[in-house]
Amino acid sequence: MKHKIIVAGIGPGNPDYMVPEALRAIRSARVLVGGRRALAQFAEPDRQELMPVGGDIPAVLSFVKERLLHFDVVVMVSGDPGYYSLLDALRREFPPELLEVIPGISSVQLAFARLALPWHEADLLSFHGRVPSAERLRYAKGRLLGLLTDGRYNSHTVPRLLVAEGWPQETELAVCSRLSYENEAIIRTTLGEADRFPVCTHCILVVKA
Ligand SMILES: C[S@@+](CC[C@H](N)C(=O)[O-])C[C@H]1O[C@@H](n2cnc3c(N)ncnc32)[C@H](O)[C@@H]1O
Repeated sequence: MKHKIIVAGIGPGNPDYMVPEALRAIRSARVLVGGRRALAQFAEPDRQELMPVGGDIPAVLSFVKERLLHFDVVVMVSGDPGYYSLLDALRREFPPELLEVIPGISSVQLAFARLALPWHEADLLSFHGRVPSAERLRYAKGRLLGLLTDGRYNSHTVPRLLVAEGWPQETELAVCSRLSYENEAIIRTTLGEADRFPVCTHCILVVKA
């Protein structure tokens, strides 16, 4: 019998925002893979074999491949697996029939929910370890953006970059950080004034022209 890789979305961080099916899969896992924070939160080291996900993705993939010969492997990813997660690399390495994906609430979804804003017309882009093309960043009246950030492309540098691409300084900006956690913060400002607030590295920026 073939074993499966179960990719479980754990949502934005607080387990209250996680679907019960993901929690069931994690609890019943014999082999559990995930970021250090997720492992600290959910792993049971006495009965589970653990693999932390760091910078060495090939090492994680070969661990999964090897363990899959004997067991199902549960891979925890933050937010939703379909939105910038390890699922991408797993899809390149394994056939889809070996993968079972349990969706999670994406940090982007939660950001739009906090702002009570529908996101069906939003353009969702990532600055997490990449930069969207100038074409995708172009200003147009009425455009709505949801952006992932990182240490380099953060709540100070991304607004500056958008202004350089022609977005007006007074464009509305929401900086949504630590979503779902007790210290969640949502700052409503503009592209031109974003750097009057402390820099936020890993957050969601919602930009509304
Ligand atoms: C590799 S991406 C993972 C996205 C994830 N798959 C999702 O659907 O939310 C990591 C980025 O997601 C965003 N992020 C993840 N959790 C967050 C949270 N609780 N609050 C704000 N932003 C978060 C940050 O922009 C972070 O740099």
